[in-house]
Amino acid sequence: MKPIQVGLLGIGTVGSGVFNVLQRNQDEISRRAGRGIQITMVADLDVERAKAVVGADIQVVNDARAIIANPDIDIVIELIGGYGIARALVLEAIAAGKHVVTANKALLAVHGTEIFAAASAKGVMVAFEAAVAGGIPIIKALREGLTANRIQWIAGIINGTTNFILSEMRSKGLDFDVVLKEAQRLGYAEADPTFDIEGVDAAHKVTLMSAIAFGIPVQFDKAYVEGITKLGAADIKYAEQLGYRIKLLGITKRADKGIELRVHPSLVPSKRLIANVEGAMNAVVVQGDAVGTTLYYGKGAGSEPTASAVIADLVDIARLHTADPEHRVPHLAFQANTLTDAMDTLPVLPMSEVVTSYYLRLRVADQAGVLAKVTGLLAEAGISIDAVLQREADEVGGEGSTQTDLIILTHDTREGTMDAVIAQMQALPTVLAAITRIRKEELN
Ligand code: HSE
Repeated sequence: MKPIQVGLLGIGTVGSGVFNVLQRNQDEISRRAGRGIQITMVADLDVERAKAVVGADIQVVNDARAIIANPDIDIVIELIGGYGIARALVLEAIAAGKHVVTANKALLAVHGTEIFAAASAKGVMVAFEAAVAGGIPIIKALREGLTANRIQWIAGIINGTTNFILSEMRSKGLDFDVVLKEAQRLGYAEADPTFDIEGVDAAHKVTLMSAIAFGIPVQFDKAYVEGITKLGAADIKYAEQLGYRIKLLGITKRADKGIELRVHPSLVPSKRLIANVEGAMNAVVVQGDAVGTTLYYGKGAGSEPTASAVIADLVDIARLHTADPEHRVPHLAFQANTLTDAMDTLPVLPMSEVVTSYYLRLRVADQAGVLAKVTGLLAEAGISIDAVLQREADEVGGEGSTQTDLIILTHDTREGTMDAVIAQMQALPTVLAAITRIRKEELN
């Protein structure tokens, strides 16, 4: 059979990886796909650099639309990134009847509903294994491998930059700003790391996993997003003393009233495997009713790990593109006509309705009755305490007045209830600074 023809939009780090791995492993890949897979056109604004990567035999253009207009191209790989031009080009490629492979989590998390609808109408595939956790085949696992299960929850370390920063903060006792600068120097963090450190990148990824796990449309606008910029080295140290590590988790969970969808720093028991995922590595835990707990671990970024995922999508498309579209795996795992109805039965819950447990750190005056007042407020709200840690007092005020850190771990409660109690605690005259609240996930 004639090789399937691929056009590549953007040949940076990931695009070069796709080109190199396809070349290196072409025999094995075509034995698996049942036909050859050939990149025959590349579009990049830097034509000379692109030519240096792909050589003279492949047509390099600076206009992505020349690829979309080429009737010989079967699959377009979008590796431009962002919501702007990438959205227009993906929609144009779909309109031209091309299958699309993309690593663009931002695009799909925000515009997925529009893009998947356009693809369904046109009978083409939009594949995005590389968009979540890079080289880890988590989309394949959720959409296909775990298809028998009612998924209960997913928790993932799905941003390598922030996991690297948190690992360094913990192992070296350094503050966030210092480690961020080091991560930028080493090339782990982008010059503008906002999407990573503010949790937005992880929220894009967990939004996609949530849709696939629960059969709901992608709803990034309803995700709760909190990054790691306010985390202090002291909290990482206290958490460790209590038997926990702090990780930036993307969490989506089936609750009684709907779906939790959130990204925030979380205390995770140190004994859990996922708590020991360090450096820039990614890991995702999925809990299904039939399978129990499963864990997926690997590189979430980088040239060839991400290329591994992109090429897996190319092979899927090479195998399935002649199949009747109704018999392919649906874009979001569930049949498209069932997604919108599920928005009513499985709404994404506001953060106030989320149920979890908490780490609280209060800077308090070291006086009689302070602990009793604070714990009294928790008791009145029906929040049960799991552990309390009080540090030795520091002498900071005049005339021997002292302050101390009071750390409280709670059992599960509603976030809205905890918000009200924190406001009451904050109003106590003996609470001397803004209260730190970090959510805690036992993951059992
Ligand atoms: N910037 C991401 C990370 C990789 O740090 O994991 C691409 O999503």
